Amino acid sequence: MLKKGQIVEVEITDIGVNAEGIAHISDYTVFVPFALVGEKVRAEIVHIPSSKPIAFAKLVEVLMKSKHRIEPVCKYFLECGGCDYLHLDYKEQLKYKRNSVINTLSKMVKVPFQVEEVIPSIPNMGYRNKVQLPFGVVKGKVVLGFYKKGSNDICPIDECLLHGSWLTPIMKATLDYVNDNKIRVYFKGKGLLRHLVIRNIDSNICVTLVSTSKNLPNINSFYDALNAIYKNTSLYININKETTNVIMGNETFEIKNIPQSLSVMGIKTSLNPLSFFQVNDNIREKLYEDVIKIINPSEQTIVIDAYSGVGIMGAIMAKSGAQIINIDEISEAIDDANILYKLNGIDHKAYNICGDSTFVLPRLAEAILVNQSHRALDSSNDKLASNDSEESIKKASSIFQSYNDVVVLLDPPRKGVSEEVIVAIEKLKTIYPSLRVVYISCNPATLARDLAKLTSFLNIKSIVPYDMFAQTKHLEALCYLAQ
Ligand SMILES: C[S@@+](CC[C@H](N)C(=O)[O-])C[C@H]1O[C@@H](n2cnc3c(N)ncnc32)[C@H](O)[C@@H]1O
Repeated sequence: MLKKGQIVEVEITDIGVNAEGIAHISDYTVFVPFALVGEKVRAEIVHIPSSKPIAFAKLVEVLMKSKHRIEPVCKYFLECGGCDYLHLDYKEQLKYKRNSVINTLSKMVKVPFQVEEVIPSIPNMGYRNKVQLPFGVVKGKVVLGFYKKGSNDICPIDECLLHGSWLTPIMKATLDYVNDNKIRVYFKGKGLLRHLVIRNIDSNICVTLVSTSKNLPNINSFYDALNAIYKNTSLYININKETTNVIMGNETFEIKNIPQSLSVMGIKTSLNPLSFFQVNDNIREKLYEDVIKIINPSEQTIVIDAYSGVGIMGAIMAKSGAQIINIDEISEAIDDANILYKLNGIDHKAYNICGDSTFVLPRLAEAILVNQSHRALDSSNDKLASNDSEESIKKASSIFQSYNDVVVLLDPPRKGVSEEVIVAIEKLKTIYPSLRVVYISCNPATLARDLAKLTSFLNIKSIVPYDMFAQTKHLEALCYLAQ
């Protein structure tokens, strides 16, 4: 029997999904954060849940080092919850991540599949174009930082190596503004400032203060301070009064909106602070290129991008003649999509529908079926998407008869896709037997669950992981399914 406080010497044989070393002592599986495969370590047992034969331990000493162990380059590494793998050489990180995808998928996917080598991030430091830092108070001082692993306590930082050197001066100007104006930071439902969110894409800097009120004192002086550091910065206040841990609220106020001149793979775009944008520019382009290579769009292709964001992937394919149906539940993303398609002269090639795919995709599949069979669309059984999107769905469904290559593109958030979306895809496949699905996932666990269902009517053609989130345990995977 293991006991809390006991010191054990173990050999690490595997890595868990949270990047911890795994060892076995009699019947126990022991998790040791920061220990690497092949290492012998001394560890202290810190927690033994009563329900399962597992134990959590703290690394005390590495007795025999892995040849892949390196000195972490960041002074916050052991405390900050951001990175998981700064103590492991980058090539080996990619191997760990590939194994972790294989292990996770194998638990649920019961058909044979192969996972390709992970596409590396170049560069693998300083790659992030977006940061979301909570405000907090530590030892009576207002700080910005990251939450410590598994905790609501903040680890204050003054730099982050996953972002460029652009971050530090903006953080400093923000803390100066907060201190000079004695603004209270949010804590348990009280106070104003919650998060500092910054995007830096192609040197277009956009700063958003997430606050419980838009009435922040001397906000123009803050803007002047930012603009003195980086010319043409945009500044927004986003309102979030909820007591959840969701970062952004639904309402955003513009303090200064400098029109951005962003171009992604030849597509001109601008971004609202609420619209999603992939955080690693290098991997985003590689991923989009590969998605488009797989789909190989032509005039015969119609793509339903069911989690489209601002619809960039669709826009690239529309340029090759494909017809696009973009769906996103965030109205600002669909507003950005409307602007983007107009700006690029391809608005005749897209329907941009605002709504939850769980309701929109089943309605679209039903409307397509109805058009094929010349019967009336029945709204009594299915939940309506929304009055506005019902109109767009009807219009979008009416053009399907002109296309014979139907592709559903899924790029959902971490929770994956709903059962209703899978059922709608299966329904579409009864109309279009050659239907193809391209699934981009940022969470192998929900990808495994969804692939287990999709493989009952489609075959896996390829799975490629991309190191979108280098130095952390997270990754992106691109999965192609067809007949
Ligand atoms: C991972 S992002 C992908 C965006 C886009 N494919 C890209 O590469 O920029 C997921 C997107 O799905 C949207 N979303 C999340 N849940 C949704 C739902 N149930 N229905 C429709 N859109 C949803 C989010 O607003 C977000 O824009």
